[in-house]
Amino acid sequence: MKILHLSASPRKERSNAWWLSQQIVNQLARAGGSADVTVRDLYADPIAHVDSEYADALGSPAYAGDENAGGALALSEQLIRELEAADAVVIGTPMHNYTVPSTLKAWIDHVVRVRRTFAITPDGKAGLLHDRPVHIGIASGGRFSGPLARQADFLTPYLKVALATIGLHDLRFYSMEGLAGGADVIRSERERMSMMLDGEFSRAERTEFA
Ligand SMILES: Cc1cc2nc3c(=O)[nH]c(=O)nc-3n(C[C@H](O)[C@H](O)[C@H](O)COP(=O)(O)O)c2cc1C
Repeated sequence: MKILHLSASPRKERSNAWWLSQQIVNQLARAGGSADVTVRDLYADPIAHVDSEYADALGSPAYAGDENAGGALALSEQLIRELEAADAVVIGTPMHNYTVPSTLKAWIDHVVRVRRTFAITPDGKAGLLHDRPVHIGIASGGRFSGPLARQADFLTPYLKVALATIGLHDLRFYSMEGLAGGADVIRSERERMSMMLDGEFSRAERTEFA
């Protein structure tokens, strides 16, 4: 199994989102017997904002996806091929100002590309990639889901719409919330997540091999 693992936290190995996404990668590797993992640390190796050449090309109806182009188009091609090669995608992301960090948004701007990963049809945008599971591990300081939520969530609905645009509909969200509460909350959220992932992945294996 080939896994593309994206990390969007600036806190590297201290990141809770990284920890959570690493647990998911481990579960996938265990379930699949082994895994070939490509890690993209979007902070250590940041993706530049799209450039004017990219914006001009995408805005032109004549543009058909020239893979020999330079600048952001070349990087876009590389990132899309990395995504196409993956059987599963795992994203570790914190919530930043109610949505994804700008580093993850920059990755999205490079892979959601008209006439390459989606087409425009009379019925709207149609994804051109084949579907595959996308596991998203989220860490947030406050709560954004459930009865104790006290803030907006533009992260999960945004990822659903952005990734569905290119054909990725099988999204699975796992979130550790309220982590600004301190070390005890982090410890109990990690324990809760470990149990939840154990249960979920062993249930999936039982169903698969039943
Ligand atoms: C720039 C910035 C914006 C943030 N915005 C939010 C927010 O809107 N909602 C929230 O619950 N937490 C917010 N946080 C807190 C982080 O989501 C929280 O610290 C999270 O645990 C960080 O994840 P990490 O350990 O993977 O880096 C923000 C943190 C930063 C640095």
